[in-house]
Amino acid sequence: LPVFLPDGVKNIKTESESGMSTKDSLLLHLKTHPGSWVSGESISRDHAVSRSAVWKQIRRLREEGYTIESSTKKGYRLLESPDLLLPQEIRDGLETRVFGKNEIHHFIETDSTNIRARELAEKGAPEGTLVLAEKQTGGRGRKGRNWHSPPRGGIYVSLILRPALSPAESPKITLLTAVALADALTSISPLEFRIKWPNDLLIHGKKIAGILTEMTTEMDRVGYIVVGLGLNVNTRHFPASIAKTATSLCLEAGEMFSRVQLLRVFLTHFEERYTSFIHQGFEPVLNRWKDLSDIIGKPIRVDMIDGALVGTVQDVDADGVLLLKDDAGNIHRIFSGDVILT
Ligand code: BTN
Repeated sequence: LPVFLPDGVKNIKTESESGMSTKDSLLLHLKTHPGSWVSGESISRDHAVSRSAVWKQIRRLREEGYTIESSTKKGYRLLESPDLLLPQEIRDGLETRVFGKNEIHHFIETDSTNIRARELAEKGAPEGTLVLAEKQTGGRGRKGRNWHSPPRGGIYVSLILRPALSPAESPKITLLTAVALADALTSISPLEFRIKWPNDLLIHGKKIAGILTEMTTEMDRVGYIVVGLGLNVNTRHFPASIAKTATSLCLEAGEMFSRVQLLRVFLTHFEERYTSFIHQGFEPVLNRWKDLSDIIGKPIRVDMIDGALVGTVQDVDADGVLLLKDDAGNIHRIFSGDVILT
């Protein structure tokens, strides 16, 4: 899949969009006639706008990276769409009910989509709100680490959730996200994906995605949860410090992927798992998670903020908490940490 990057795209700023603007409906019109000419006259008639308004919207679409040919006699035709995570591209063919159906906020560049999502959540953004960036200048990983976020290399997305859960149940959301992502990727690629507790997705032992879940609490309830996902899609080069441990879909599969399509597939799996979790409980997610992570029974070391623990993984309990049995036979409940196989 060619990744087409238009000149000047860095200068445009796409804002959150809801409802269908003239630009969106014009784009839809062009997309439903792929490769063929659509006259300016018919567009202006169908959309009840002037010819010059049509021209203005065509110019905006070009600025966003669409290749649109024009001819005074024949009108316009769409030749290529950009591989940018533009709201209108994501919405086109998105099969969810809530996720990505309301607000989508897209940034060509931002420090961290999780930070943007938290700001929006504080202002009341509804469940299913998406925040996307083509590039992050301060992408955040767990434990204050940085998430390598080169332009258009990966999917850097944060989703706002407002589940009626107790804060103790929030680790389940991270596990659920990892399962949904593994399922989504498995549906489009024959590669074998594994989950490393709690939130890493691996191919051939190298990390391809990470999840950073942040939440607020109100009394004994979750206020909102921001699920931040970083997925290395078409990135080919990683900084030396992570070059041995990080990989991307493109590097593993030997081909490039459409990030828009991947995101849509992920959102569908994610919403399905989330809805079933809220209505039917966590067990199916947990079972799938156990299939995908081959950690149970393995000897590991867990590095935590206050030191390390060594032992054998007994299980992951119904809340998504890791149960580690140390040499003395004591069971430790571990909520978060870095797992190293020993
Ligand atoms: C980790 O494995 O340490 C978690 C990495 C999470 C990275 C994603 S990218 C989108 C979102 N915005 C951020 O700043 N971080 C998350």
